[in-house]
Amino acid sequence: MSDLASKVSSTLRDVPDFPKEGIIFKDITPVLADGMLFREIIEAWRQRYASQNISAIVGIESRGFIFGAALAHALGVGLTLVRKPGKLPYSRIGVDYTLEYGTDRVEMHTDALAPGERVVVVDDLLATGGTCGATVALVQQLGGVVVECAFLVELGFLEGAKRLHGVPHHALTVF
Ligand code: PRP
Ligand code: MG
Repeated sequence: MSDLASKVSSTLRDVPDFPKEGIIFKDITPVLADGMLFREIIEAWRQRYASQNISAIVGIESRGFIFGAALAHALGVGLTLVRKPGKLPYSRIGVDYTLEYGTDRVEMHTDALAPGERVVVVDDLLATGGTCGATVALVQQLGGVVVECAFLVELGFLEGAKRLHGVPHHALTVF
């Protein structure tokens, strides 16, 4: 494990039985509270994507906004928002995805990306891959190219990467 990966994994806080019994929640707030670590994470991603001709970061509501906004700022590119239903004011498209029980949906403005734009999708966590998979589908509907999906944490045992429509992904820490 890299130095950064071990710092991230030792700083994340495991909260048992949240949001329901049997789930161990990966709490990112101690990572955000560590200003030097937060900066190192964004700097590692900036270096990873600086020469990739990226024109926008796609941040997934809500925890993905935090890391996505910081990375967009560091790269000097735009931030495009993927939001939960009913939040975006302008003309929008949406993609539904399945959860363990029921479905959920993510939305994007129709003018959020131009065809051919190269983007990195950013979220804090890859679990079942439902959220990010739907986000990749949204970007692709607008003609965008997902260069990579970047996460702080991947729960590898849930095999969420299989739902990312074959685009590459990168996680700083994998459990
Ligand atoms: C969490 C997490 C990811 C998503 C991962 O978000 O921040 O966005 O779930 O799960 P998946 O891979 O199974 O789709 P959540 O919906 O809890 O909301 P939040 O980011 O607004 O806290
Ligand atoms: Mg989220």
